Amino acid sequence: MTDQVYLNGDYLPLADAKVSVLDRGFLFGDGVYEVIPAYNGRLFRLEDHIVRLNNSLAGIRLPMSQSVADWEAIFRPLLENDKDQYIYLQITRGYAPKRDHGFPEQIVPTVFAMCSEIKPFAGRINGIKAVTLDDTRWQLCNIKAITLLGNILLRQQALDQDCAEAILVRNGYVLEGAASNIFVVIDDELITPPKSNEILPGITRDVILELAAAHNIPYREDIIALEALHNASEVWVTSSTREIVPVVEVDGEQVGTGKPGPVWQRIDDLLQAYKKSLS
Ligand code: PDD
Repeated sequence: MTDQVYLNGDYLPLADAKVSVLDRGFLFGDGVYEVIPAYNGRLFRLEDHIVRLNNSLAGIRLPMSQSVADWEAIFRPLLENDKDQYIYLQITRGYAPKRDHGFPEQIVPTVFAMCSEIKPFAGRINGIKAVTLDDTRWQLCNIKAITLLGNILLRQQALDQDCAEAILVRNGYVLEGAASNIFVVIDDELITPPKSNEILPGITRDVILELAAAHNIPYREDIIALEALHNASEVWVTSSTREIVPVVEVDGEQVGTGKPGPVWQRIDDLLQAYKKSLS
């Protein structure tokens, strides 16, 4: 059922999936989303993604009652075996009869899900270039909001400079990428910024910290000054669709040896083995 998408209780061809132009997602970016990978037809860390989804929904005052099993039942018909795919799930505050910033009295959320193939990202093996940019986003970056204008403008600014990711900096501290979390290796220790309203709590980030703990790889959740980023022996950006991507150049300067580093290689091997053990 690959050409099918899910919209408000129905499965239908993508071309037939339509929402009103008065949908608050369209008019205000009033909604949240999730990106959930599936390997060989099996959803990866679904419970964690649904916990984050429910936090995002609570954050925009749009609680929903679906259980993990309910969501799984919705996604199942969209998935195929023998493929790496991801579910894109978007929930908006739905159609309202007139454009008004305040919430409408009657709210029927719009729920949309589609499945896409995860195409291997060459940068995961070869490394990417990144550029640091001032974080111009809002103060609730822990909510996975569809309102992504800040993120897309920053990512495009990076792309315009021939870089694959923007590393976002606020008050002299490195926070995350435009669509990824960040890790650095300093003196053989893995460091990632602590969870806060300034970053999205990435599921890949959690998995990496679990793998580090389980395999005695030294790690710490701590603030990272911009200067420390520039002196790190390894820098990575992480996300569900690209996994762990080594950054081999930041702001035009080589990171470490200029090649993906040994700690990246070790954690990437562990992540690939972990994925295999689940699928
Ligand atoms: N983005 N930080 C931001 C701002 C992100 O957009 C993402 C992922 C992450 C990593 O989260 P996770 O490991 O759970 O994928 C961190 C998704 C992939 C996207 O917007 O397409």
